[in-house]
Amino acid sequence: MFRKTDKLAALCGGLLLISLSPNVVADAAAGKAIYDGKGACGSCHGPAGMGDGPAAMAMDPKPRSFTDGVFKYDTDADGQSGTDVDLVNIIKNGSAKYGGAATMPGRADIPDGEIEALVAYIRTLKK
Ligand code: HEC
Repeated sequence: MFRKTDKLAALCGGLLLISLSPNVVADAAAGKAIYDGKGACGSCHGPAGMGDGPAAMAMDPKPRSFTDGVFKYDTDADGQSGTDVDLVNIIKNGSAKYGGAATMPGRADIPDGEIEALVAYIRTLKK
């Protein structure tokens, strides 16, 4: 038998599901605009995120390809690399801050919400 609180919980869960999916899509679309636009991420990571941008050729390590969805840095030392928090930190601060190459530049000038949109977009590139 349903109690009132169960019904409420089910309703909230349903609403959350409905509201979550379009948000993720909208975020990823916004992220793509930033990736292609002021982020200029494609110059290194490639237009489709394959790590093959025009500036990538001379680089070692190479810019990450986003199509395999494998990430290196565990910026918050929680034992897991490539979490949303890690990707936000790398994009914001650059990889040199976490002991890596200086070729992944930090973009502290991009607001947090836009960096989160970039992460949402990068997640969609995994094949
Ligand atoms: C000047 C070249 C360059 C630009 C521009 C650039 N990156 Fe990178 N990026 C790199 C390189 C090189 C690496 C690999 C660093 C390493 O392995 O130490 C990297 C790695 C990454 C990673 C993977 C981190 C990990 O843990 O594996 C993410 C995510 C990332 N970049 C996102 C972005 C986003 C988003 C932008 C645009 C705002 C961007 N990058 C712009 C060169 C660049």
